Amino acid sequence: MKITIFGSGYVGLVTGACFAEVGNDVLCVDIDRKKIDALNEGHIPIYEPGLEEIVVENSRAGRLKFTSDIREGVEFGLYQFIAVGTPPDEDGSADLRHVLSVAESIGTYMQEYRIVINKSTVPVGTADLVREKISSVLAERSSGVDFDVVSNPEFLKEGDAVNDFMKPERIIVGVDDPRTKELLRFLYSPFNRSHERFIAMDIRSAELTKYAANAMLATKISFMNEIANIAERVGADVEAVRRGIGSDSRIGFSFIYPGVGYGGSCFPKDVQALERTAHKYGYHSRILQAVEAVNEDQKSTIVRKIRLHFGEEIGGRVFALWGLSFKPNTDDMRAAPSRRVIEELLQAGASVRVYDPVAMHEAERIYGDREGIYYAANPEDAVKGSDALVVLTEWLVFRSPDFEMVKRDLKTPVVFDGRNIYNPEFMEISGFTYYSVGRPP
Ligand code: UGA
Repeated sequence: MKITIFGSGYVGLVTGACFAEVGNDVLCVDIDRKKIDALNEGHIPIYEPGLEEIVVENSRAGRLKFTSDIREGVEFGLYQFIAVGTPPDEDGSADLRHVLSVAESIGTYMQEYRIVINKSTVPVGTADLVREKISSVLAERSSGVDFDVVSNPEFLKEGDAVNDFMKPERIIVGVDDPRTKELLRFLYSPFNRSHERFIAMDIRSAELTKYAANAMLATKISFMNEIANIAERVGADVEAVRRGIGSDSRIGFSFIYPGVGYGGSCFPKDVQALERTAHKYGYHSRILQAVEAVNEDQKSTIVRKIRLHFGEEIGGRVFALWGLSFKPNTDDMRAAPSRRVIEELLQAGASVRVYDPVAMHEAERIYGDREGIYYAANPEDAVKGSDALVVLTEWLVFRSPDFEMVKRDLKTPVVFDGRNIYNPEFMEISGFTYYSVGRPP
């Protein structure tokens, strides 16, 4: 099957590589020439486990190609995936400029039937806008070429993206036309083997499903952070509470880990965008607003604890920060809680010695040679001469560090754990003053 993917970001690149992996001919299109040149040379612009291998392998096999020629893209695939970014605009709504510009190009160059598939996370009603855009361009050309628009949201997680795509828990397809539905089912059949994971529905429901899923997960996290805040005040241990409620299968263990708040390119943006959509349709979502407010506040929880320990005046102090990406196994620092922590510490006149297993280049890109930031070569280097250690991402390498060394190299043996990865009893035995989230200090 011939497939075109517009947008070679996380979603586009993973989608393209995985469709090629199961034998399709895939052409990935991106307006960023530098990115395309790099991809053609086998360099992938993001850190994502397993992705580089399948990109390189399928490129070599000739099944995966990259171009910045949009026309070539429109002419290539029967299936035209739109996987471009939908960043938030000033009021938090999703900015559809890139999506609609791809729709315009498809309308401009299309010569025969095409299935246009929205994979970008787009507000309810976007498929209609895409359809209108293509129709109006076709009308200008006086062309009667037929096409269909489908909503097919993506649910992959950064850090596990290839696996999520190859073995999805569900394939959501919003489609009006029964024939197009079957074409989509066929396209996805390599990923739909053991039991039926293909869930077809109307287009608006598919669009809303994507937001509802992310908003539900974000709600679980904010809820748990709220319970952590209550636990701290009443003298309870949120980790015990987490185990206690998670074992109720109706609640479950996933996404109830308290911490320093959720980050990344999806939850913050999607919770806001759904709230804006609701507002646009005259509904005031109290839950979504609260989810966002709790999360924003939670990003400051560690600095509040730092002030509690060291006193309001923390100017001149040095903090070792372990973990800069918004979660492990990615170099993505978009909306990462570490950014709030760094900002608040620098604003207070403190300095930071930062370390992350893969996000160092991203940190340097963001902060450059800003005063007060030292880019450490390894975790030990970050700790040297710092007043305290702050853990912000639960990378495996931070889970069992050499605490003797940490104690020796810190000025004072204080650890602020934003992810509850250490055991309070162990930290006490090891001679640390230990602060975590939702547990008695
Ligand atoms: C999220 C969803 O999990 C994917 O299903 C979805 O496809 C994707 O957004 C998207 O819309 O593209 P992702 O943003 O990659 O994926 O990361 P998650 O693993 O969901 O983590 C999000 C944030 O929540 C991280 O900052 C993580 O540290 C935080 N989190 C997660 C918690 O604080 N507690 C938890 O229990 C779980």
